[in-house]
Amino acid sequence: MAKETKKILVTGAVGQIGSELTLALRERYGGDNVVAAGHRTQPGEALRDSGPFEFIDVRRRETVEEVVKRYNIDTIYHLAAILSAVGEEKPLLAWDVNMNGLYNILEVARQHEMVRVFCPSSIAVFGPQTPRHNTPQETILCPTTMYGVTKVAGELLCNYYVRRFGLDVRGLRYPGIISAETPPGGGTTDYAVEIYYEAIRHRRYTCFVRQDTVLPMMYMPDCLKAAMDLMEADFAQLRHHADYNVAAMSFSAGELAAEIQKHIPDFVCEYRPDFRQAIADSWPRSIDDSAARQEWGWQPAYDLAAMTVDMLEKLGRRHAEGRL
Ligand code: NAD
Ligand code: SER
Repeated sequence: MAKETKKILVTGAVGQIGSELTLALRERYGGDNVVAAGHRTQPGEALRDSGPFEFIDVRRRETVEEVVKRYNIDTIYHLAAILSAVGEEKPLLAWDVNMNGLYNILEVARQHEMVRVFCPSSIAVFGPQTPRHNTPQETILCPTTMYGVTKVAGELLCNYYVRRFGLDVRGLRYPGIISAETPPGGGTTDYAVEIYYEAIRHRRYTCFVRQDTVLPMMYMPDCLKAAMDLMEADFAQLRHHADYNVAAMSFSAGELAAEIQKHIPDFVCEYRPDFRQAIADSWPRSIDDSAARQEWGWQPAYDLAAMTVDMLEKLGRRHAEGRL
């Protein structure tokens, strides 16, 4: 398990996390060494011009295998997935992509004797019976969404491949990810991203969860750092594999709006909860990530104030240039 990474495949590379993680990996390992794989959506210019790009459907193993063979891939960052809100609208699709897609990735990785696989899990593995404050690493995993069901099963499957086949699979339970480059793909925490875009565009936002809804969140630079730090950690130090709790900050939707109002005083936020409220209510408010801190040195950099300054600066600049 101490082999060196040479050729990386990123699935879900056009998505919220993939579009930025691919560029960060290319920066670190070289553009030609990181193959971005999308599904149907065309890549943006930065993704397309900085290294190889392919289309795959993770449900069709042969499309993964073809790219793996052609580029001699030895490491996969598997980000292709259906998120929580879309998953409740299309549960069979969520099962198919998140479970059969993951199984295909793990099988191809096993058969090609890969160095390492990264597969993110989520706070969606937790459910209403889980302690909601400082949620422990080892706790009740009884989610009430199809997305959460696939994430629990996915963690178990990844850990099975570590034990049964000696495949080095790593993963962490991301909280809601906030970013300024690619909009999120249909999750429950999307409001925490949309609010910034709408504050810049219209100075007004209608939030789909209640003002007092508190969820754990993380800014994209920390999200990328977590993935790369975990993937570069010494395997011998890891007591967990595919299921690390990671945290950065927790705040209510109202506190988020108030933070934006410090910079845009006439920003108005209204609250009109929809079906995503019940999903948010089933997830933790804060996370205990001491295992990640102890075993691979996890340490986030951004809090709500620092993230808000950066988000508004990035989106404000794009808006002023007519690109938002
Ligand atoms: P996203 O929805 O933005 O991107 C997922 C990508 O998967 C999309 O670009 C989509 O085209 C692709 N995809 C869908 N079906 C596919 C298929 N059949 N074959 C190949 N590709 C397919 O998601 P994201 O936010 O970038 O999430 C990436 C990973 O991180 C997922 O595993 C997700 O569960 C996890 N995660 C994300 C968050 C978050 O807040 N963004 C939080 C926790 C965990
Ligand atoms: N942000 C994701 C979602 O809301 C959490 O995994 O679905």
